[in-house]
Amino acid sequence: MEKKTFYITTPIYYPSANLHIGHTYCTVNTDAMARYKRLTGYDTYFLTGADEHGQKIERKAAEKGVTPQEYVDDIVSGFHKLWELMDISNDGFVRTTDDYHIACVQKAFKKLYDKGDIYKSSYKGMYCTPCEAFWTETQLKESGGVCPDCGRPVEEVEEESYFLRVSKYAPRLIDYINEHPDFIQPASRAKEMLNNFLLPGLEDLCVSRSTFKWGVPVDFDDKHIIYVWFDAVLNYLSKLGYLSDNDELYRKYWPADVHFVGKEIMRFHTIIWPIILMALDVPLPKHVYGHGWLVLNGSKMSKSVGNVVDPVKLVERYGVDAVRYFLLSEFSFGSDGNFDNATLITRINSDLANDLGNLLSRTVAMIEKYFDGVIPPHDTPVPEQDDTIIPAASALADRIEESMNAFHINEAIGDIFKLVRLCNKYIDLTAPWLLAKDEANKARLGTVLYNLAECLRIIGVALQPFLTRTSPKIFAQLGITDEALMSFDSIHTFGLLPVGQKVVKGEALFPRIDMKKELEYLNSLMPAKEEAPKAEVKEEAPKAEEAPELPEMLPEIGYDDFSKLDLRLAKVVACEEVPKSKKLLKFTLDLGTEQRTVLSGIKKWFSPDQLVGKTVVVVANLAPKMMCGIESHGMILCASDAGDVNLSPLTVMSEMAAGLKVR
Ligand code: ME8
Repeated sequence: MEKKTFYITTPIYYPSANLHIGHTYCTVNTDAMARYKRLTGYDTYFLTGADEHGQKIERKAAEKGVTPQEYVDDIVSGFHKLWELMDISNDGFVRTTDDYHIACVQKAFKKLYDKGDIYKSSYKGMYCTPCEAFWTETQLKESGGVCPDCGRPVEEVEEESYFLRVSKYAPRLIDYINEHPDFIQPASRAKEMLNNFLLPGLEDLCVSRSTFKWGVPVDFDDKHIIYVWFDAVLNYLSKLGYLSDNDELYRKYWPADVHFVGKEIMRFHTIIWPIILMALDVPLPKHVYGHGWLVLNGSKMSKSVGNVVDPVKLVERYGVDAVRYFLLSEFSFGSDGNFDNATLITRINSDLANDLGNLLSRTVAMIEKYFDGVIPPHDTPVPEQDDTIIPAASALADRIEESMNAFHINEAIGDIFKLVRLCNKYIDLTAPWLLAKDEANKARLGTVLYNLAECLRIIGVALQPFLTRTSPKIFAQLGITDEALMSFDSIHTFGLLPVGQKVVKGEALFPRIDMKKELEYLNSLMPAKEEAPKAEVKEEAPKAEEAPELPEMLPEIGYDDFSKLDLRLAKVVACEEVPKSKKLLKFTLDLGTEQRTVLSGIKKWFSPDQLVGKTVVVVANLAPKMMCGIESHGMILCASDAGDVNLSPLTVMSEMAAGLKVR
């Protein structure tokens, strides 16, 4: 039987400057997905690369006094070094200056020209060079005349150009998106594409430039070069040999299973790219996933703005797995997340050093101490204790499968760490050191330690796509060399770890780090506050650097008054928009003992899918109130500034059960 295939891509990044933690975030998530698919039996092709043409690069090279090719060669060599450092397992690396790519772009352009889907006309309009994007008057009206994507000034350009008949394919694309609800993910982004771009009507797209040279020439009209986005998106096909003499990879892997891209380039990937593919008669990719941004002090990190975190410095200091762990687990993949040094250190210390590192070292140390380092038999179960870990360990593979198939990568790794924490609780519950005091409990002690070692094997297997260096260390300490015991299939069954195998104590997986010292170091790497760049993003820029306007304190209250408030943790089970309300979102909250409907006026800041799964704080004993015909029972606590520019629901730093009291 032929192996199932899986083709996954990152955006191809601009070599206009060195890559930063934002690019690393996307590539590490893509890598985890690719490694996971390989581990679960897919013949996987993972592509990344560099998008080397365009006016921006031409100008940068001129500023430096080198040719554009010299300029990109230098920076792209840094891409390779970074991906090697991050243990990125890409199968292909495409450069848009590679010959096969240039040939593919020229052939595709000609094919569409011959078909009449590309035609020559004249273009007059506004262009944003940093984003390499054309904007219409209507689009600019809403943004106040600046680029709607990055907020910088646009330039007027007038030139004879080739145009792609986008308008011809738009109705077909609208139908396609409606008929394939999982094509654009998360679902909120599909709505955004339909409502903001497709439904208002699309104009034909200018797909050539003639006022600069650094691009793929139109081979039948060399005054023109091909628009950098037309050139760039074709990378996903060119590397597979599309329109070349050898298109074996194309036939094997296309259509792509998923393109992972940042949310700001969804428009190019879910409108322009599908239309080019429709015009070429090529099937569309199965999914396009728009991930969120890593922001720093409220602004999107950006090479051109300069407010970036350098992944190389972090890896040199904390190791590749610590950085991979943080990028994979801390941020919900579809939503924006704030990159914060203190959280990075906390996660390394609490999750990696304490929870995982200690679990392994304690388990191995106890097997050495009580069983001469030999994995003991497990024939004395105590179900009320063992059932706190064995069912969770046996179900882990299925849970990961479900999360990864939905591209909820942070949830998959989160599930693994839930099991880690359950195991630590199991140690407290079973107290092996007490069992060891009485020889009569020896068989039970053996069972407890076996269960822990087997859970660690399962954790080690499950962690392989995420923490590339840690899994082999776990296997080595458990004495596992048999590859069958490292396979994903093997963790559907609890109890495969062979009894009698020797464990081998090793170094601590993750040394604890000194928060104060590290924060001083990390903060010294950040851009100085007075130089902090202005927000590049079009979303209202939070002014985190300025002292916020603070309201007056209210008059003092006594403990009696305070104790009347019943504040509880609640888990967001579901969240949806309230029809006809501009402000309200309708939440279904799990309060541990019951599910409640609570309305909250935070639609301006969040789309419903950003909040599902989060833990929030609610005033649980607030009297119910009718709003928009719906009864709302409780209030979600949020922090916001005076102008309501920034708003954040309150949440907790570690996993806590729904229903717990907040005091
Ligand atoms: O747009 N947070 O290249 P680019 C999260 N060449 N992800 C981030 C990020 C951040 N702060 N900053 C960048 C281009 N990224 C085009 C793509 S594809 C055919 C052409 C990631 O160098 C994110 O994935 O500006 C984003 O979409 C991509 O880098 C943009 O990289």
